[in-house]
Amino acid sequence: MRQILFILIFWLPMAVHAQFSYDLQGHRGARGLMPENTIPAMIKALDLGVTTLELDLAVTKDGIVIVSHEPWMNGIICLKPDGTSIDKDDYSHNIYQMSYQEVLAYDCGFKPHPGFPQQVKFHTRKPSLQDLFQEVEKYVADHKLVPPNYNIEIKSLPDGDGVYHPAPPDFSDLVYALLHELLEWDRVTIQSFDFRVLQYFHKTYPDVRLAMLVENAGKFEVQLKELGFKPAIYSPYYPALTAESVAILHEKGLKVIPWTVNSTEAMEKLLDMGVDGIITDYPNLAPKK
Ligand code: G3P
Ligand code: CA
Repeated sequence: MRQILFILIFWLPMAVHAQFSYDLQGHRGARGLMPENTIPAMIKALDLGVTTLELDLAVTKDGIVIVSHEPWMNGIICLKPDGTSIDKDDYSHNIYQMSYQEVLAYDCGFKPHPGFPQQVKFHTRKPSLQDLFQEVEKYVADHKLVPPNYNIEIKSLPDGDGVYHPAPPDFSDLVYALLHELLEWDRVTIQSFDFRVLQYFHKTYPDVRLAMLVENAGKFEVQLKELGFKPAIYSPYYPALTAESVAILHEKGLKVIPWTVNSTEAMEKLLDMGVDGIITDYPNLAPKK
């Protein structure tokens, strides 16, 4: 009996992660179920057995790297410090022009999200990347889970340089230094739609695993040429992806991890095509294989 108990206690937490033979990535944690890019969203994703936590980065004016999809307070998900709404086209609550203390005054968990009605609602703030790692790693250790990987997106655009975020070299150096201090690199992928970020990382930190994010999966030859090197991962919006493209990309030595796949049926179809992972807002819908 004692032996069975021992096996159950030590084996069960591992079994959670053994459900998936592919890289199941919780998008913004588990955006379908919890407020996006928050610590509770990451914990929820871990409870559902994801192998990787996907998240986005922004920077405050005092140089704190925070977890946020937009470099401003998005009116769809955040409330002003006085609890009132922000217009959805109002981009003036610019995180790069705020101190971290100012960022903490906004609630980004309580407002119902029209696109994700199953989200549990509670008061919460945008976390710093450092706080998120600390809480997630503590949860993993306390619950004896397999440590997750992190798919970390540097969000930048040429028009936003110096206005909404640092230019790619400064943004990348800041993120690299923080990650270098806090995590093992074999648990990290840096992803970006901004090829300037990927090119800078490739040149400056050639050992870091990179994922190129693209909208159109049908144009990978042109996109790879534009990038100028082969990243570890090709990560497209999923609808235009085909089995043939996946096979060609594999032949070239790239993994294929599409986003953001939110139905079991679509996930099954992509897995049948041979993708290496799935990025989803709903890790609870992922097929167990
Ligand atoms: O990881 C891919 C995915 O996050 C890209 O889209 O806009 O949700 O960051 P987005
Ligand atoms: Ca992202």
